[in-house]
Amino acid sequence: MKRKIVSEKFQELFGTPGDFYFSPGRVNLIGEHTDYNGGFVLPGAIDKGMLACIKENGTDKIRAFAVDLNEYEEFGMEEADKPEQSWARYIFGVVREITKRGGKVKGFDTAFSGDVPLGAGLSSSAALESTYAFALNEIFGLGIDKFELAKIGQATEHNYCGVKCGIMDQFASVFGKEGHLIRLDCRSLEYEYVPFDPVGYKVVLIDSVVKHELASSAYNKRRESCETVVKAIQKRHPEVELLRDADMNMLAEVKGEVSAEDYMRAEYVIEEIQRLLDACAALKRGDYKTVGEKMYGTHHGMSKLYEVSCEELDFLNDIAKECGVTGSRVMGGGFGGCTINLVPEDKYDMFIDKAVKEFTHKFGKEPKVYPVRIGNGSRKL
Ligand code: GLA
Repeated sequence: MKRKIVSEKFQELFGTPGDFYFSPGRVNLIGEHTDYNGGFVLPGAIDKGMLACIKENGTDKIRAFAVDLNEYEEFGMEEADKPEQSWARYIFGVVREITKRGGKVKGFDTAFSGDVPLGAGLSSSAALESTYAFALNEIFGLGIDKFELAKIGQATEHNYCGVKCGIMDQFASVFGKEGHLIRLDCRSLEYEYVPFDPVGYKVVLIDSVVKHELASSAYNKRRESCETVVKAIQKRHPEVELLRDADMNMLAEVKGEVSAEDYMRAEYVIEEIQRLLDACAALKRGDYKTVGEKMYGTHHGMSKLYEVSCEELDFLNDIAKECGVTGSRVMGGGFGGCTINLVPEDKYDMFIDKAVKEFTHKFGKEPKVYPVRIGNGSRKL
């Protein structure tokens, strides 16, 4: 469907057909704000993402059309050519990051569209970055490996979009595998595909429709808090490079030296890294009850210690609890977006019904419901 629209638009604008590439958005079962602390995450790619049609155009310019926004931009590939539109900066940033790594990208035409909702915490931006990193690598025969493709997307966020994100979203988008979550060590980038088929349960996202678009400065602030605490701990434990290496005793030692806020942030992260390890062990045993308890633990930490939840997300989490949902929590960076819910099949309809009704009644807007299907990563179509 989307492909037809993009293809027609591309043909109309550039008078030629192009090649199609796709990269997905992601969910994350548990392990939030742990990636930039060197910890673990457990994401999976979803069956929704970004679709781009691309073709070399024989110039040194990029001509790009955002189908969903009906916006066009044309820009060069030098540092000074940074485009105005934020969507165009993702494409530009990917080109710049490839160039910095010695890759030679030539001018191209492109049109793209997505079916992953924007600003809902499903990493639409990582999907866009991965789509272009993957496509340009193939089209120009650059021979960049998949790890570096993910890092190119991450560096695009850092250097062209103002978000000092970790590696989780881009990694999941590039490496996704149908029916599997990825247990990723964000320090070494060692990873393992974990089969994910929770028999008797459904996994569903409930989108609070609170947009998290303006959250980048708050996100960067969280990261700074973590770094501040690491510096304090390093005075006694120079071997600690990241919060991954710290434990609650080390944190307690610096209680008087860091702000109460920074302390809370670090407490959340240290606990969350452990929660993920516990949840992974439980998942291996098929113990979804424990996985679910850990998810609630994450929500509590993100809401009360890391303070990246909001009234709408807390409300959805409370309803999940009331309905006997096994696990529920705010997913992704936070400040809006979705909760991810692990729901026993026999409670599913009741939960969705109650969540939609009560949320709409309270906030005067309807939440969106997305059943989760774990799909494959970046690819040519
Ligand atoms: C955003 C970032 C990720 C990660 C999550 C929180 O999605 O892009 O790198 O930090 O937030 O886990």
